[in-house]
Amino acid sequence: MKMEFEHISVLAEEVVDFAPQTTQTILDCTLGGGGHSRRLLEKFPEANLYGIDRDAKALNATSDCLKNYKEQILLEQASFSELPERFANWGVPQFDYILADIGLSSEQLARPKRGFSFMHEGPLDMRMDPDRQHLTAADLVNKSSEHELLKILRAYGEERFARKIVSTILAEREKKLFETTKELADMVSDVIPRRFQKPGFNPATLTFQALRIAVNDELNELGALLKEAPSLFKQDGRLAIISFHSLEDRMVKHQFRKWENPCVCPTNLPYCICGEKPLGRVLTRRPVNASAKEAAENPRSRSAHLRVFSFSEITSWLKSAGMLTGTV
Ligand SMILES: C[S@@+](CC[C@H](N)C(=O)[O-])C[C@H]1O[C@@H](n2cnc3c(N)ncnc32)[C@H](O)[C@@H]1O
Repeated sequence: MKMEFEHISVLAEEVVDFAPQTTQTILDCTLGGGGHSRRLLEKFPEANLYGIDRDAKALNATSDCLKNYKEQILLEQASFSELPERFANWGVPQFDYILADIGLSSEQLARPKRGFSFMHEGPLDMRMDPDRQHLTAADLVNKSSEHELLKILRAYGEERFARKIVSTILAEREKKLFETTKELADMVSDVIPRRFQKPGFNPATLTFQALRIAVNDELNELGALLKEAPSLFKQDGRLAIISFHSLEDRMVKHQFRKWENPCVCPTNLPYCICGEKPLGRVLTRRPVNASAKEAAENPRSRSAHLRVFSFSEITSWLKSAGMLTGTV
């Protein structure tokens, strides 16, 4: 029996509306259940779509979802940091539209054995690609030093009770190693004082977020995508990124600004002498968020931020002159 893939695509109309009118070649970097890809192919039925996801299950779900478009899709298991090599294998296509809807699918969250959720009892795993990634959340919790754990919880979770949580982890793992999501979630919930626990917000949310980001090296992955992106576009191609937490959104916002205004000259100079050329323009001054209707229908969409950048003619010119190094 075929398993349904549970995921509702966020900001789907907006993602389709931002695609250039003459889109012919699309790259979906986060296929998930294939929802966004399908919407894009419905709007651009002649387009070729390349797609990656680091989770093999997402590829199966997408092939199924896009079965009517078999002739025009190419799907591969890969992470953002593997894009350069995939790109070379594909014969270096240039894209009109690249989409990355980063984070987890509802499907990944809903399967207890993936170990992403504090709502279900499961192994403390959290790997998006369990076949090729080795480090699990249990490894981090049971083997990392106090310093490493503090760094993870503070940098990736911005967890104000990081010190307390980490000292309890160190004490508890002396008696028994952490094995399940529930053991960790219950411990965090006991450690955070009741008066600081917000209604409707599981106290383990930030700890789980931090571990997931560390296990999957998510910020470096996003950095790799941003580094590669400028060299992948056709003229007037657009990059759309949906992120779900402030660390990622900040990275995207700063990179887009830097592409738009890369000049590093002192502000008191009357004209630019650094020679850095803008790569295009930001199409979303503020992030696009879900409408009230979408937020009510799909609570996951409430924290989604969509930002879009348009690479202009100058990018192709810089590329042909060998001047585009893709620096982040
Ligand atoms: C929010 S879901 C995408 C949902 C999809 N847009 C849809 O409409 O069905 C995010 C997907 O991105 C994948 N992913 C996250 N980080 C990735 C990375 N660095 N490289 C490749 N895939 C990644 C996850 O495995 C997950 O399947």
